[in-house]
Amino acid sequence: MRWLEIRKAQLRDVPAIAALVNKYAAEGLMLSKRQVDLYENIREFVVVVTSDGQLMGCGALRTVWHNLAEVRSLAIAPEAKGMGLGRRIVDELIQEATQLGLAKVFALTYQQVFFEKLGFHVVDKAGFPQKVWLDCNQCPKQTCCDEIAVLRVLNPNAPDEDPPELIQEWKSGKEILELRVIPAEVGR
Ligand SMILES: CC(C)(COP(=O)(O)OP(=O)(O)OC[C@H]1O[C@@H](n2cnc3c(N)ncnc32)[C@H](O)[C@@H]1OP(=O)(O)O)[C@@H](O)C(=O)NCCC(=O)NCCS
Repeated sequence: MRWLEIRKAQLRDVPAIAALVNKYAAEGLMLSKRQVDLYENIREFVVVVTSDGQLMGCGALRTVWHNLAEVRSLAIAPEAKGMGLGRRIVDELIQEATQLGLAKVFALTYQQVFFEKLGFHVVDKAGFPQKVWLDCNQCPKQTCCDEIAVLRVLNPNAPDEDPPELIQEWKSGKEILELRVIPAEVGR
């Protein structure tokens, strides 16, 4: 009997991720991805695979700002749609975002209803920091983006303003700092 596993992607998953994402990109549903970019960003990806190694879905989380990350490259194989795998992958990415201390997660998508079912709501794209749009440079729809922006707030109490500048002493490199490894549960 075959089973499914959800896990962080590995380099060997790249050709299958590229094939799945680019299939939907050819249909105009999402942005295409070059294999070279996937190899570079493979640590952002979560995949669902069958026990015999067939890719059933993928999705990625990219941090873009001090409080914001994007869910991107979310794709479920045609034969596995409607089985809850899209929700499962987004849940996994949200868990990762929470562990990173992120306050908000967004997506640019045509799948508004799907994301609304997962706790996202539609927002004005103009509200995102400029950094979000740097990644759109290579998009053919750069000047006529018709994707909908959806946002899920993870921590409503997190401050919205940008963090202060880096401490001057640190930048000058004059101060020698001792590296102390603090266990995660103590540091939180
Ligand atoms: C959109 C997509 C990721 C959804 O994945 P999925 O595994 O089929 O979705 P799930 O089974 O987890 O569905 C979760 C919920 O969303 C609903 N849903 C899923 N796709 C939907 C759609 N296109 N329109 C409306 N509702 C949808 C499901 O009915 C389910 O609702 P329920 O909880 O009330 O039963 C998948 O259809 C896909 O890969 N599409 C092509 C690529 C794409 O558009 N990716 C998004 C890029 S941002």
